[in-house]
Amino acid sequence: MTFKTLDDIGDVTGKAVLVREDLNVPMADGVVTDDTRLRATVATLNELSDKGAKVLVLAHFGRPKGQPSEEFSLKKLAGPLSQVLGRAVSFIDWEGDKEAVAALQAGDIAILENTRFFGGEEKNDPAVVERFASLGDFYVNDAFSAAHRAHASTEGLAHVLPAFAGRAMEAELTALEKALGKPEHPVAAVVGGAKVSTKLDVLKHLVGKVDHLIIGGGMANTFLAARGVAVGKSLCEHDLTATADEILDNADKAGCTVHLPYDVVVSKEFAANPPSLRTCNVHEVAADEMILDVGPTAVEALADVLKTCKTLVWNGPMGAFETEPFDTATVALARTAAALTKEGSLVSVAGGGDTVAALNHAGVGGDFSYVSTAGGAFLEWMEGKELPGVAALGA
Ligand code: 3PG
Repeated sequence: MTFKTLDDIGDVTGKAVLVREDLNVPMADGVVTDDTRLRATVATLNELSDKGAKVLVLAHFGRPKGQPSEEFSLKKLAGPLSQVLGRAVSFIDWEGDKEAVAALQAGDIAILENTRFFGGEEKNDPAVVERFASLGDFYVNDAFSAAHRAHASTEGLAHVLPAFAGRAMEAELTALEKALGKPEHPVAAVVGGAKVSTKLDVLKHLVGKVDHLIIGGGMANTFLAARGVAVGKSLCEHDLTATADEILDNADKAGCTVHLPYDVVVSKEFAANPPSLRTCNVHEVAADEMILDVGPTAVEALADVLKTCKTLVWNGPMGAFETEPFDTATVALARTAAALTKEGSLVSVAGGGDTVAALNHAGVGGDFSYVSTAGGAFLEWMEGKELPGVAALGA
């Protein structure tokens, strides 16, 4: 897909540019606990400010469902954003916004109040689109992680103002294109996490796209059960074994090799370093044991698979990585992927939910080719869906 970037925006001196960012950051006691999304805005906001634009940040915070409230106000993010950008950031309420915008000087940066204080934002209501559009001359979408929403500020605006991808959006789309759009083969996908049910569409899509599908986490148990393995007390969606079978059949037809663990780490209780911890063949799991991680022999074999690949896309941990020692397989495989990436033999893209936390836990978050902080948007992209916010930028 081709799209316009900030290289195409032309002279923005004194112009008001509406920039959709994702400021939906985790906060505790009024403090931002992870500023990754704030840092992702720096390139675009500072570039536009340096070019003399009046920069108007559009964003949502939480799910206020059209009800303005202190709790969901974006006012509290002006300070943290200003710190990250290293320049002043003002805040503009929806009351009196026109006057406040008119008073801005070239190069100023302001956060507009939560877009979701308008009920019509999530309905992509043309009246709300117009309301936002009336404040700006240009629209820049820099929020891939909100691009799976067809909302006024993420989709509608792109149809009524000259629209461009911001730097973070551009980097994300370029990385994702390399990973699944036009990847170098062989391609491996690692899909982990607790439940098959949350990633059915991801798995169905991937078997037709990748050469190796590595399934880990609790969801692997459903596939093992589909193959007739007794998984004891393990987390397993027994009602989905027929679907798992279908996915395995489709993989076979598409020439995709599915890798399921053949040795596993099991325990009778789910606790850190439990006394009943042991490693066994998948066919030896006792009725009172649960599978909590992929075993060392399988991890070694999976590392060998990665060594033959040119591209890797990763979503979800291989085991119950938040509890030791069930982080072992995730850490080992993530480190192998990171080392291959550093050597230059693998393009590695990871994202979604727990994945960033798992890679950071392995100490390799910075060593992958690209790590997306998008949750739902990353999953929808892995499902092969067209994201409305991205499609609307299509040139
Ligand atoms: C996110 O946090 O994943 C995005 O900001 C989207 O938020 P939403 O799920 O409330 O639309």
